[in-house]
Amino acid sequence: MAASDELITRFDPADSAFIADPYPTLAAVREATPIFYNERARQWVLTRFADVHAALRDRRLGRVYTHRYSHAELGRPEPDQRWAAFDEHERWSLLQLEPPDHTRIRRLVAKVFTPTAAAAVRPTATALAEGLLDECRQRRQFDLLARYAQPYSVAVICSLLGVPRSDTHLLLDWSHAIVKMYELTTTDEQRAAAARAAQEFMDYTATLIAAKRIRPDGLLVAALATVEDEGERLTDAEIISTVIVLLNAGHEATVNTLGNGMRAFLLHPDQWARVTAGEVPARVAIEEMIRWDAPLQLFERWVLDDGVEIAGQPIAVGEEIAMLFGSANRDPRRFADPDRFDAGRGDTAHVGFGGGIHFCVGAPLAREELDVSVDALARILPGVELAVTPRYHPTFVIRGLSALLLDVGAG
Ligand code: HEM
Repeated sequence: MAASDELITRFDPADSAFIADPYPTLAAVREATPIFYNERARQWVLTRFADVHAALRDRRLGRVYTHRYSHAELGRPEPDQRWAAFDEHERWSLLQLEPPDHTRIRRLVAKVFTPTAAAAVRPTATALAEGLLDECRQRRQFDLLARYAQPYSVAVICSLLGVPRSDTHLLLDWSHAIVKMYELTTTDEQRAAAARAAQEFMDYTATLIAAKRIRPDGLLVAALATVEDEGERLTDAEIISTVIVLLNAGHEATVNTLGNGMRAFLLHPDQWARVTAGEVPARVAIEEMIRWDAPLQLFERWVLDDGVEIAGQPIAVGEEIAMLFGSANRDPRRFADPDRFDAGRGDTAHVGFGGGIHFCVGAPLAREELDVSVDALARILPGVELAVTPRYHPTFVIRGLSALLLDVGAG
C-alpha cells in the first residue's frame, strides 16, 4: 500500500481518535493529495483551500441533483418512505435547492433576513448574554454550552423569528434529532427519530404561521408569511421549510463555534488575555474561532454536468464531492502558520460560512451574536478556566463539544 493510501484509510470520520483531534490526520492527507476517493461514503474528498473555494462557486456542482435527474438516472436508490417526513421538512430548505427555486426563495428570504435585522438584535442579545453570565458567575463552575451558548443562541433566533421563548426546549429536541441525518453514518433508529422530529416540527410551524397571519407581530415568521416580490409569495410548505432551516441552522453552528472557540482560547490563555485586555476586539477573534476549529467540517455537492475535473481528477456526472472545510481552513497554502491559534489574525476569507450561492444567509447574524457573546464573556468572566478536559460529540460533520465545564476563576 502506498504511503498516501495508508493515510487515506486513516481518514475515518467514525473513529473516536480522529474526532478527538482530526487536524493532524487532515494535515497529512492534505499534504499527500488534494483529492481522494472515500470508499466508505462513496465521495470524492477535497482537502485543500483553493479546490474547496472553487467548488463552492462551481455551478456545475449542486447541493442536490433531483431538479435535473431522477434517482434511477444516476443509479441512486429511491428515498426510503420510512423517513418521508424528514424529506418533506427540508423539501424547500434553501440548503436543498438549486436555481431557479433557490434564487426565488433566497431572494424572498433575503428581503426579510437582512443584515439590518441581524444588527437590530444586538440590544436583546447583550441583555441575554449578561443575564446568563450573571447566573453562571454565581455557580462558580458551569457548563458553557448548557448554561450560556445554547440558551443564548436559541433565544436570539427565537426573538428574531417571533417564536415563543417557552417553546425553546421543543426546538432543541427536534433540532438535535434532525441534525443526526447530516452525518456520514446514521442508524435506522436515528433516522426514525429524525423523521418523527421533522413531522412534529412541521406541525408546530404550520400552527405558528397560522397564528402569525391572525396576529402579525412584525417579526420574521410573520414577515415570511406575507413577503411578496414581483407578485411572488412563498407557499406554506416553503415557509415551513424556511422557518425550520433558520431555526436549526440558526443555533447549532453558533453554539458549537462558541464551544469550540472558547476551548481554543482556554488552551491558549495568552490569546484569551489579548481579548480580555481589549487588544483584540471580540468581532476579530470570532473569525479565528471559526477558522481554527470549524463547527461544520464537511459539505457535499453532486456533479451535474460533464467535464468536471478537480485537481487533475475527472469526476463524472452523478458522483458526489465532499469539501473538507476544517482542512481547507488550515491549508498552509492559504493561511500562514495555519495551526497557530492567533486571536488577532482577523482573516475573514476562511470558508467557514461557505461561498457561492449557498453562502450562509445567517452569517451577519452569527457574527453579531458571536461578537456580543464573546465580548460579554471577556468583560464579565475574564478569569474563566477549563475545569475538565472537554470531549467532542462522536460526530464529524457537525463538530461540537458535549460540554465545556468551566471554573469562574479570578477577575
Ligand atoms: C457560526 C455560525 C454559522 C456557521 C459556521 C454557518 C455555516 C454555514 C455554511 C458553511 C453554509 C453553506 C452550506 C453549503 O454551502 O452547502 C451555511 C448556509 C446557511 N446558513 Fe449558516 N452558519 C452559521 C450560522 C447561521 C445562522 C445564525 C443562520 C440563520 C439564522 C444560518 C442559516 C443558514 C442558511 C439558511 C443557509 C443556507 C443558505 C443557502 O443555501 O442559500 N446559519 N451556513
